[in-house]
Amino acid sequence: MYEKALEVAIQAAKEAGALLRAGLHAQKGASCKSHRHDPVTLFDRRAEGTILARIEEAFPDHGFLSEEGTAKKRRSPYCWVIDPLDGTNNFLRNYPQFAISVALQHEQTSVVGCIYDPLREELFTAIRSSGAFLNGERMQVSSQASLDGALLGAGFSSRPQRAMITHATLKLLIPRARAIRAAGSACLDLAYVAAGRLDATWYISLSSWDVAAGILLIEEAGGRVSDLAGNPLIDPETGILATNRRIHNDMLGVLQR
Ligand code: IPD
Ligand code: CA
Ligand code: CA
Repeated sequence: MYEKALEVAIQAAKEAGALLRAGLHAQKGASCKSHRHDPVTLFDRRAEGTILARIEEAFPDHGFLSEEGTAKKRRSPYCWVIDPLDGTNNFLRNYPQFAISVALQHEQTSVVGCIYDPLREELFTAIRSSGAFLNGERMQVSSQASLDGALLGAGFSSRPQRAMITHATLKLLIPRARAIRAAGSACLDLAYVAAGRLDATWYISLSSWDVAAGILLIEEAGGRVSDLAGNPLIDPETGILATNRRIHNDMLGVLQR
């Protein structure tokens, strides 16, 4: 069943991706959600509609949790967790770093994950216990053994007060890391850790739809995910640390200071 679920997730993400690509040259119809730095566009909603239609067609008994408000609780132990457009602020400005994240969870554990970057046509996929892949090629986390010289992805919360916590952490990391990027799409940062492009990323204040697919990709590519204290991740709102495993403790040491 998981192979079929991944096929459906890929088809849905690619359809939504085509919509987002077309949306770059259209009126985006932006408005604010929870606060003024938290936008939503017509295309977040259209992409969500497309993805849910595809999944519901194939798995009418499964539940859903999707960022733009579609939640359906069903009796099934399976629930799809979806971010139809991760990086809306980038999308709004035609900054080419955004993606679609689709995960299937069984009893709250991700078992199928798919992140699709529609501009680069990069498809990151995983099924639990079967490895992680980028456009069909097996992915592995990097072999960077220490924080000194690492390439890191920083996540700034859209809430300024929380972003300032990350600002304080940066002061500790800048002297040690080779470089730090802050590209504005949490799910792509997680996919990049899985692909060995980043050695670690950390965020405060994310939601389950931001991380559900990315966590599985990282675990299947040999990396490690925890909360900011090194405990199993329960709620990404309080913070998430994702690494190539080898520099996890170094990163925890900095984050706990
Ligand atoms: C946001 C992006 C961003 C992160 C924010 C998220 P959205 O997701 O992942 O990188 O810093 O916290 O909310 O709203 O564009 O789907
Ligand atoms: Ca998001
Ligand atoms: Ca989103």
